[in-house]
Amino acid sequence: MRLAVLADVHSNLEAFEAVLQDCAKEPASAIINLGDLVGYNASPGECVDLARRHQMISLQGNHDRAAVQPRFAEGFNIFAHQAVLWSASALNAEQKDFLASLPDTLLLWDRYILFHGAPDNPEAYIFYLFQAKKAFAYMRHRMPEVRIAFFGHTHHRALWQRDVRGRVQSLPIPRGPMALDPEEMYLINPGSVGQPRNHHWEASYLIVTADPPAIEFRLVPYDLRLAQAKIREARLPDYLAERLAAGV
Ligand SMILES: [Fe+2]
Repeated sequence: MRLAVLADVHSNLEAFEAVLQDCAKEPASAIINLGDLVGYNASPGECVDLARRHQMISLQGNHDRAAVQPRFAEGFNIFAHQAVLWSASALNAEQKDFLASLPDTLLLWDRYILFHGAPDNPEAYIFYLFQAKKAFAYMRHRMPEVRIAFFGHTHHRALWQRDVRGRVQSLPIPRGPMALDPEEMYLINPGSVGQPRNHHWEASYLIVTADPPAIEFRLVPYDLRLAQAKIREARLPDYLAERLAAGV
């Protein structure tokens, strides 16, 4: 079984289409979207429709929730806040119903746990060691049979490992395919499709093979200028266009 795992599309249609074209070179049996289809960029409705057309296994991210229920945008920074309210005005009722229907977390085939931010809170981040340890502890307590978790929200690619002795560490992102040890546990962030923050502009996603377990992080070039032009045309903050080029 071959899966494509992606997160934080954030209304960047050009990046989303480029990732799907890259996936299609070797078809996946399922595409997993870890949330935040909308927000920041200028094509929210098109991105929701594309996720539905591909029958992706989708989670609700904090921006998806805020686009449907604006009171959840109150804690957002000024750029995120402005963009999510604009997204809400650009989505039709059917697209909003779809976003509202998505789950926070999902246990997939008793094998993978999917969540947007942290397993117990879609708004919390896994950036630091103590946060990764907390997420592994939650998994061991609640779903001891599951060894692999996929998450998003930080827009940073990440690969955390907990070995059989309980040591947790952040591993470097492998350049090519990497085998996973079936005895160990992993927390994996594919990076962001539509607003990567690894100081590199290309869209980021992950390919996963199940037997034997292996992963491959992928970076995909896309029409950045067109995505930027749409942001400016929508009169969203110019910074949202500039940051795409800088990968921040
Ligand atoms: Fe996000």
